[in-house]
Amino acid sequence: MRAAIIGGTGVYGIGQAVEKEVQTQYGSVTVDIVTVEGKEIIFLPRHGKGHGLPPHMINYRANMMALKELEVTHVLATCAVGSCNDSMAPGDVMVIKDFLDFTKARPITFYDGGDGVFHTDVSDIYCSDLRTNFHQIANDFDIDVKGEGVYVCTEGPRFETASEIQFYKQIGGDVVGMTNVPESVLAKELNMCYAAVGIVTNWCTGVSGDIVMHDIQGAMKANKEKVTQAFISILTNKDNQDACACTRAVMAL
Ligand code: HPA
Repeated sequence: MRAAIIGGTGVYGIGQAVEKEVQTQYGSVTVDIVTVEGKEIIFLPRHGKGHGLPPHMINYRANMMALKELEVTHVLATCAVGSCNDSMAPGDVMVIKDFLDFTKARPITFYDGGDGVFHTDVSDIYCSDLRTNFHQIANDFDIDVKGEGVYVCTEGPRFETASEIQFYKQIGGDVVGMTNVPESVLAKELNMCYAAVGIVTNWCTGVSGDIVMHDIQGAMKANKEKVTQAFISILTNKDNQDACACTRAVMAL
């Protein structure tokens, strides 16, 4: 098995990174590969290596297919999120347990027809085995996890209106971001175990004060290194997907 971390651009001095360009039928993707304790970990900067791609322009299918071509089976991701849940404040770390999809104009699947009709079971869209691993280990890395929550994925790149946030909160959303759909779904379509940790960077629009951009960068910086270290610890100890059903989610009709 091989493992990947999706998130920002750094490998945080974990080891010597070897850059690799992967060609896929959807486009090419550049990743960094770092060997930790004899195991290769792939680092995929979701927004591209210079953070140049806004959420709605990310080539999610190329990103996830590149990981598949590198034989990745386990993926842990970080996501910047705004919060509309009082118990998840800026600077906090939470685990995403499910999503509400409000994206509008992105390629959403690898199954566009041609080879038949397929549906994907998303009842455990964020691999419960990887989530359990993160909860068990977070304390060792000085990460205070504020529980699990529902991620609302918006199209972006604009932030939400106050009325939209009120609605998202009413229907069960805890945090809001712009990137986790279709990323999580594509991982499932490729039989990968995938889980994501939200780093709360701001209160959502209308919840408390204005959205402040420097808060977003500050909160990400403060937490990402710790979360990445925890991810590496989990991933270097994984050797198979026996503990979950992530390999059996795609169903033919
Ligand atoms: N909304 C959507 N995406 C985000 C936010 C937000 O408030 N903060 C960080 N990513």
